[in-house]
Amino acid sequence: MCGIVGFIGKEQASPVVLRALTKLEYRGYDSAGVASISDSKILLKKDVGKIAEVQGKYALDGLPGTIAIGHVRWATHGKVTVANAHPHMDCDGKIAVVHNGIIENYQELRHQLEGDHKFVSDTDTEIVCHLIETYMRMGNSLEQAVIAAIQQLVGSYALAVISVDEPNKIVAVRKSSPLVIGIGDGEYFVASDALSFLDKTNQVIFMEDDEVAVIAGDGVDIYNKKGKHVNRKPTKIEWEWDQASKNGHDYFMLKEIIEGPEAIQNAATQDKKHVMDVAMTILRAEQVVITACGSSRYAALIGRYLFSQLAGKFCDVVMASEFQYFASSIDKHTVVIAVSQSGETADVMEGVKMARDKGAKIISIVNVPGSSLARIAHKALYLNCGPEICVAATKSFIAQLVIFYLLSFAMMNKLDQGTKQLKGLSVGVNGSFDENSQKLMVLADKLHEQGNFYYIARGINFAMASEGALKLKELSYIHAEGMPAGELKHGTIALIEEGTPVVAICPNDETYHETVSNAIETKARGAFIIGVSDRDNEVYDAWIKVPEVEDIFYPLSVVLPLQLLAYYLAVRLGKDPDKPRNLAKSVTVK
Ligand code: M6R
Repeated sequence: MCGIVGFIGKEQASPVVLRALTKLEYRGYDSAGVASISDSKILLKKDVGKIAEVQGKYALDGLPGTIAIGHVRWATHGKVTVANAHPHMDCDGKIAVVHNGIIENYQELRHQLEGDHKFVSDTDTEIVCHLIETYMRMGNSLEQAVIAAIQQLVGSYALAVISVDEPNKIVAVRKSSPLVIGIGDGEYFVASDALSFLDKTNQVIFMEDDEVAVIAGDGVDIYNKKGKHVNRKPTKIEWEWDQASKNGHDYFMLKEIIEGPEAIQNAATQDKKHVMDVAMTILRAEQVVITACGSSRYAALIGRYLFSQLAGKFCDVVMASEFQYFASSIDKHTVVIAVSQSGETADVMEGVKMARDKGAKIISIVNVPGSSLARIAHKALYLNCGPEICVAATKSFIAQLVIFYLLSFAMMNKLDQGTKQLKGLSVGVNGSFDENSQKLMVLADKLHEQGNFYYIARGINFAMASEGALKLKELSYIHAEGMPAGELKHGTIALIEEGTPVVAICPNDETYHETVSNAIETKARGAFIIGVSDRDNEVYDAWIKVPEVEDIFYPLSVVLPLQLLAYYLAVRLGKDPDKPRNLAKSVTVK
């Protein structure tokens, strides 16, 4: 949800900011802009569209000066227009601001400020410029003005601010939106995600809520909201930017799907003592709740089956955006497992903060090192799958499943055996990649005009049906529903018509016959059945053969064709699978 960048150094800043913004585009691509300071002026270019389009029109990297800020937008307040694109400025064009987050009390503040200030956009961000302007007019320094301004803000924000009156510094501040400072050699970055500057430096300082950083050409000073200096040493991030390149593929999505087996290997490579410790914390808890959103929640639902089937440990999965409404049931005897690729999802963070305040123990399963969720948790397990750039979760979903397998095996005191089985599996899961790709491309061609898809499965694979449907919806904009196969006849079957595609996930396990029966019921109403299974059946109109594995591992066996089907349909429909409309990878607003 919006990406912000700031750079100050010795070289021209705008090309650096542009490069960094390009790596943040997964956070938003409604509009883009850059502002720099040169000759005591703020120079600003911005427009609607993806970065490449805005760059093509305005040469954002042509802005002079060694200090600049930039923004990619995922619109919240105000339509996608040039006026609403960031950076925003004050009345005199002396202050420029980029913002990620939502200022909830912006309407009241705008009414207060409107008499003395001229507003040119509909955004919540613009009030920040005018508030800072007000305090600077009173004689405050830029950082004093920013500190004074944030006292009035309600909501979430990561801000980077520059001013011609103090042209050698960027002032940055965060509350409930991610912000990381990069320490280079005589050059400094501030950004929503360290990935944006990893080609330049991997020395980072993670800012905490309510901290204000003054980033100058010769160093960084961090203050708390009372203005007291805070000492913070940089830490090193192990990720490489190279891991986030397309590696010759048309889209990040395909590359990341292909990395699935490697993701299994890497996620299964964990510190054994740490996994055992986390597993014992779960096993001993009176109550275990898993919370997550989107694909991470579907991984959690599979985790729930695994905990129950393998370790006899019952737990509940609560959608993160609904978790706050269960606050009265959370206490110090609760273990909350929060699952998130980004570790920044606002709904997850809010639920976790609530649970922590109530004394619950927090375990996080995250991918992004140093993310807010990893830092707020009592214990963290990392997915180790490297940067995932495509908005749709693919390899991170697989890695999340692996962590749930590891925890379940650890609870049975069979962690070594589980690790070995998982690593062994990784060799085979993409085995039929080429053959399935061919079949799925043909299917995509045949079915791309269908308006509705249904995905059915039972037991541990039920969440795979939901995950398959989510992938299809978000990438191709075709309506899709995933559901337990047995539930279909309780209403949804009314929607099945001649030719409606039904993806039946029916591995050759205890669910096979019943799922096939449910598929037959839809076929009787005209459905076109795509069987995702290791066992053929005459009911299938198309059979996507998956590797035969031990029953509990079928989610890892069926995941590839589900991801590929969504990918090929999106490509067939001419959609960009890496940047689906209306979405952003890191959902940092509630
Ligand atoms: O970063 P997170 O895992 O917390 O993100 C959660 C969801 O926003 C995410 O899984 C989303 O549903 C993906 N676009 C699904 O492909």
